[in-house]
Amino acid sequence: MALIEDYQRVRKYSETLCAPLKVEDYVVQIVEFASPPKWHLGHTSWFFEEFVLKQHDDNYQPFHEQYGYLFNSYYNHAGDRILRANRGNLSRPTVEEVYAYRHYVDQAMLAFIPSIRDEGLHNLIVLGLNHEQQHQELFLTDLKYVLGHNPLLPAYDTARHLVDGGNTTEGTVAIEEGVQAIGHDGTGFAYDNEYTRHKVYINAGSINNYLVTNRDYLEFIEDGGYQNFSLWLEEGWKWVNNHNINAPLYWRETEEGWRYYTLAGDKPVNPDALLCHISFYEACAFAEWNGARLPTEFEWEVSADNLDWGQRWEWTASAYLPYPGYSKQPGAVGEYNGKFMSHQMVLRGASVATSPEHSRKTYRNFFYPHERWQFTGLRLMAC
Ligand SMILES: [Fe+2]
Repeated sequence: MALIEDYQRVRKYSETLCAPLKVEDYVVQIVEFASPPKWHLGHTSWFFEEFVLKQHDDNYQPFHEQYGYLFNSYYNHAGDRILRANRGNLSRPTVEEVYAYRHYVDQAMLAFIPSIRDEGLHNLIVLGLNHEQQHQELFLTDLKYVLGHNPLLPAYDTARHLVDGGNTTEGTVAIEEGVQAIGHDGTGFAYDNEYTRHKVYINAGSINNYLVTNRDYLEFIEDGGYQNFSLWLEEGWKWVNNHNINAPLYWRETEEGWRYYTLAGDKPVNPDALLCHISFYEACAFAEWNGARLPTEFEWEVSADNLDWGQRWEWTASAYLPYPGYSKQPGAVGEYNGKFMSHQMVLRGASVATSPEHSRKTYRNFFYPHERWQFTGLRLMAC
């Protein structure tokens, strides 16, 4: 059965990602927005326990009555939960106990899946697997944040630099003027925020078939980009000044030049590599300096078949809003995406940290404009 194989593959990959960790690495949380590995492992298991097993498997006995409180993220339907900032303050359950929880849930899921006849339930499990894949990427980005703020700058895995790749294409892709269909066509899995497929009028234009590189961005820095208020959005200028921002996240200037933390450890900035870890504000300031602009998410989507994408989440000029006809599913899973549709910007594509088989051209990622711990980059509209 395909669902069983998918379940085993995705669940195993979370543990594969943890293989280089030492036991201390599983626990630490240094900022509210970046959760510790132990919590990710527990929370992704809780999703299946809470929404599948507890609701639909009459034989299921919960592993621990308080784990719902520990591992619920933001689902008001699923009750109270520990404060997000406190996820790293728990030495118990131990890492070993969290793995035991995972394996208990896996055993129950593998026994339960063959009995499923209901398409809705099948789709709920597929949602759970896609949810886990999202957390696999968060695992890497959150871990990078913790290790990258440790004075020792320890490597997670010396074979996993991730941000060393450059452009493999050049030139531009023309965008035709006219009415185009946007959103998921219903074939295969998609999140609710990719629906409803609808029409958008697109103006003629041209989009770069390459991303901004570190070399490009170094020119912006050396030209005083971070000191020139005229390039910045008002919110962005406040952000730069309030936080003393003068480079992308993880960059630092040394006597030998710019260096950055990567998951393979501290490295010199590779000028040919694609720019990474920038905020929406930085993306906009760079575009302004370049006399260009960011594509809208619609311009991006109608061009995607002809673009080389997938190394960076690409900031777009589009606010994260519901499509026409968007509707939330009833119950807890209705909280998955819809309630976050304010004050965030859409990112398109995928990144080098995105899990296998978790990318599609209609995918709408979303983050707040100042956030940059994801593998974010920038593509410009051609001037
Ligand atoms: Fe989650």
